[in-house]
Amino acid sequence: MKAIILAGGAGSRLYPLTQVSSKQLQAVFDKPMIYYPLTALIASGVRELCLISTPDDLPRFQALLGDGAQWGISIDYRIQARPEGIAQAFIIAADFVGTDNVILMLGDNIFSGGDDFPRAVSSFTGGASIFAYHVKDPQRYGVVQFDNAGRAIAIQEKPQHPKSNYAVPGVYIYDHEVVKIAQSIAPSARGELEITDVNLEYLRQGKLQVRRLSRGFAWLDAGTSSALHEASSYIEAIERRQGIKIGCPEEAALIRGFLSIQQFEALIAHMPRCEYSDYLRGVADEWHRLQRERA
Ligand code: G1P
Repeated sequence: MKAIILAGGAGSRLYPLTQVSSKQLQAVFDKPMIYYPLTALIASGVRELCLISTPDDLPRFQALLGDGAQWGISIDYRIQARPEGIAQAFIIAADFVGTDNVILMLGDNIFSGGDDFPRAVSSFTGGASIFAYHVKDPQRYGVVQFDNAGRAIAIQEKPQHPKSNYAVPGVYIYDHEVVKIAQSIAPSARGELEITDVNLEYLRQGKLQVRRLSRGFAWLDAGTSSALHEASSYIEAIERRQGIKIGCPEEAALIRGFLSIQQFEALIAHMPRCEYSDYLRGVADEWHRLQRERA
């Protein structure tokens, strides 16, 4: 399974913050926003990633994330010249996808809790697998309609009168057919290649699986200044309560076995002394303690 992170868009709803840096590089409590989807992908066992952003912002992502080798992954980069839709990601990264399965994650979606994504990735056998999450304001999203048996029968993009409260989060798993499907759909009224149209094609072919995310799962939006602030507060509250960080790629890479403990400790040695590196030092100490207990 390969992964694409789409971190494009003008971020106009976060103006003037987005005059300073792109939306997906804004701070969500103690980390850049992009760390959250990146960590969710590492935790799902994905090692080959491609990040797509605007011509202006791409260099900033490259400076922050590099080639990914520090986390035992690889990161390719591609440019989306204009904001022409989420589904365009598959056309831009067609050569990266090749004949592999691919998971697309939006760079401004923040997830926490549960093992729904790792399980969906490891059990994926083809077609499309997307998720549904209960929200209060479904009209802002793609919305799934279910029949009485709980099967998805329709998806509508930002409907005025939603048929359910189940929104589609920005995580989509596809087989490589997605590239051909993305190439075949027409732009919507807002001039974008809609991811909902890709999902509708899989639904039409009887190859779309929709999984409802569990109640305890958190999907946070950071698209407006208030939502960004709320997301930061949520992350801080959980991290403070549990003493465990959300969205920490180094830790996820260690847990997944993408990094050895030696590589992990070498990474920390290059970080400045701060809360973040103190936390990672604690993770290393805990790792050694568990090894001693097992011996
Ligand atoms: C996009 C998709 C929508 C999905 C949402 C998730 O919306 O079009 O179907 O529910 O991402 O964040 P947009 O970012 O274009 O508002």
